[in-house]
Amino acid sequence: MMADYTRQVKSILKAHGCTFVRYGKGDHERWYSPIINANFSIDGKIESRISANKQGLISVTRESTLGEDNVSKIVVIYKSKYGKTKRYAEWISEALNAPLFENANIKSHQLNNYDVVVYGGGLYAGGIDGIKLVTKNSCKSLIVFTVGVADPKDTDYTKILQKAFTSESLSKIKVFHLRGGIDYSKLSFIHKGMMAVMKKMIEKKPLAERDSDDVGVIETYGKDVDFSDKTTIEPLVEYVRTL
Ligand SMILES: Cc1cc2nc3c(=O)[nH]c(=O)nc-3n(C[C@H](O)[C@H](O)[C@H](O)COP(=O)(O)O)c2cc1C
Repeated sequence: MMADYTRQVKSILKAHGCTFVRYGKGDHERWYSPIINANFSIDGKIESRISANKQGLISVTRESTLGEDNVSKIVVIYKSKYGKTKRYAEWISEALNAPLFENANIKSHQLNNYDVVVYGGGLYAGGIDGIKLVTKNSCKSLIVFTVGVADPKDTDYTKILQKAFTSESLSKIKVFHLRGGIDYSKLSFIHKGMMAVMKKMIEKKPLAERDSDDVGVIETYGKDVDFSDKTTIEPLVEYVRTL
């Protein structure tokens, strides 16, 4: 059965003068485009505008993306305990001109209203805050950003990603790591306690065995540091714009 978006793609192609030529292999069809003066294939299972555009159907209509209402529907969702992820999410939603939701204010079924979901969560003890919203529910296209106090340049995120995603889901998404900060004067009682325990454990390690995260925790302990940098959203924003 043809996926829903295939029908829409065909009507857009017809509106640009493209015509059906013959059935191809499997559920593919061969069509002719007068614009490129050549035949091309259409997959019978086009699920979204994004997959249509990824298949190169842009070139046969010479539009930047398919259709009139063709701008991908993007949403930015975040979970933030102390505001650093929230601020990045606000910058990203502004740059992409996309609606912004706090994790708690969007229902899982609403995710399907969007072609692209950009999800941001603060890092807490190696977990991405609230990530289950997008791992337990399907998104057409998912982009994730994490916000932690550690410097992404020196941090190995393998374990964090393995904890949050299956290897199959990880292969389908794109992840960006942004740097936030920490203000000890604002931490909850429990978080202060967790950081104190973490510091004690790190101090027990010989210097040579401490990794860059450990050094970061010791250096920033008890302080108010903020490494947030608006320019670091650019690779994510550029990536989403290419979808
Ligand atoms: C209890 C606790 C655990 C944390 N664990 C990590 C961590 O594993 N990796 C990291 O980079 N930052 C860690 N952080 C720092 C936060 O990720 C950082 O403060 C971030 O900016 C928080 O974002 P938010 O303000 O949006 O919640 C931790 C902070 C606290 C209080």
